[in-house]
Amino acid sequence: MQIPENLEQAVAFIKRAHTPTVQVGVILGSGLGNFVNEINVEKEISYNDIPHFPVSTVKGHSGKLIFGEIAGKKIVAMAGRFHFYEGYAAAEVAFPIRIMKLLGVHTLLISNAAGGVNTGFKVGDLMIITDHISFATVNPLIGKNEEAFGPRFPDMSEPYSKDLIQKGKEVAKQLNIPVKEGVYFGVTGPTFETRAEYKMINLLGGDAVGMSTVQEVMVAVHAGIKVFGMSIITDIGIREEENTITHEEVLHAAAEAEPKFSAIFKALVKAI
Ligand code: HPA
Repeated sequence: MQIPENLEQAVAFIKRAHTPTVQVGVILGSGLGNFVNEINVEKEISYNDIPHFPVSTVKGHSGKLIFGEIAGKKIVAMAGRFHFYEGYAAAEVAFPIRIMKLLGVHTLLISNAAGGVNTGFKVGDLMIITDHISFATVNPLIGKNEEAFGPRFPDMSEPYSKDLIQKGKEVAKQLNIPVKEGVYFGVTGPTFETRAEYKMINLLGGDAVGMSTVQEVMVAVHAGIKVFGMSIITDIGIREEENTITHEEVLHAAAEAEPKFSAIFKALVKAI
């Protein structure tokens, strides 16, 4: 089946630069870039150099594909991701996921910084994503279905692999790192939520809210990639007091929690 030309060109470029067979993809969220220190890096390719690859604009995202190995597993990490709020089309946000698929990725580990909506959460908590609600985000699969990747109407009953959730909980337990579980509520941003919106998200069943992930997951699941997702709770949206939220605060909280997050992701790559 026909692979779209822009993807073919991008993959051909990557394969010329490096001949990777990768099994595991990793997407690093805001403030979580230090995870790359866990990788025995073989090759880095800047997004700018890859034909048709979107370029990230957000502070805290450096913008490159990092190829390497962790515990004998070949991985490709995206340091820097694309958000709908930056002005990319939903399909552009999804582009790198299809690149990963074409490079051989069968398992994708996704991370993000998110606002806590569950009243039992506190800043610095890690939440394994068990499900998501895509709220007012644009579905990246709208348009001609790319049959080479998956069906017109993909099943979404298990967007986050139950098996990987189980493995994630096991490795966290072995590492003695407490983790929460919950539903990630995806919004477009770039505004943080109003107090009324945080309340609404809580009522609708969201445990954490963020501006990424859901579109990437839809494209991954469409392509038959197994997904594991983890949120770092960087602020508590649902609250009584008069505090505000800034991007700096989000980056700071993510960086603080990053060692715990990295330990879990590393152990999970090993366990896959
Ligand atoms: N809302 C939306 N996205 C976020 C938040 C939040 O409170 N924190 C980090 N990303």
